[in-house]
Amino acid sequence: MEHELSDDIQQVFLSAEAIQRRVQELGQAISHDYQGKKPVLVGALKGVICFMADLLRAITVPVEVDFIAISSYSAEAQEQGVVRVVKDLDRPITGRHVIFIEDVIDTGLTLNYLMSSLRARQPASLEVCTFLNRGSRRIINIPIRYKGFDLPDYFVVGYGLDYHEGYRNLPYVGILKPEILFGKNS
Ligand code: IMP
Ligand code: MG
Repeated sequence: MEHELSDDIQQVFLSAEAIQRRVQELGQAISHDYQGKKPVLVGALKGVICFMADLLRAITVPVEVDFIAISSYSAEAQEQGVVRVVKDLDRPITGRHVIFIEDVIDTGLTLNYLMSSLRARQPASLEVCTFLNRGSRRIINIPIRYKGFDLPDYFVVGYGLDYHEGYRNLPYVGILKPEILFGKNS
């Protein structure tokens, strides 16, 4: 039987077109705010890959890009806000204007942990840009300078976001069918 990725999606939450429109707006806002500067965009792998790739090309001022990789969303990370850094930044960010780029901010625990780590390196400034923001489960509040979309209590996949490492290559953001989320193993 042929199995398409989209067969597992109950509903499209954000179309590819809607995403592109919003990302262009975010790129314009960042370009405006960072005139005369050369910010470093720091992305949290791997969920941020599509957002980073598009946002980057929507920014018209010079930028640098770096990535930090952390262990995936786990019960442990959720409860303690401690995540394992799997890959650190390639370059120092001391004295640099840093924009931290996230896919989803949910409880805020991951963000809080990473922001502490970045802040300790004494950047000239540090702001947050997230593709999606789910406010309903927030535990730690950190100001978010740039935000793509607000996300309701649905678990979503696509455009870089995964469920057990799958679905990242969907070009849109979709809500997974409940039988996939809560059902039998594939
Ligand atoms: P937080 O520490 O609870 O804010 O965790 C945020 C992280 O959880 C994000 O960076 C995502 O990797 C993951 N995450 C949260 N909600 C979703 C979702 O709906 N789909 C996919 N990943 C999610
Ligand atoms: Mg993430």
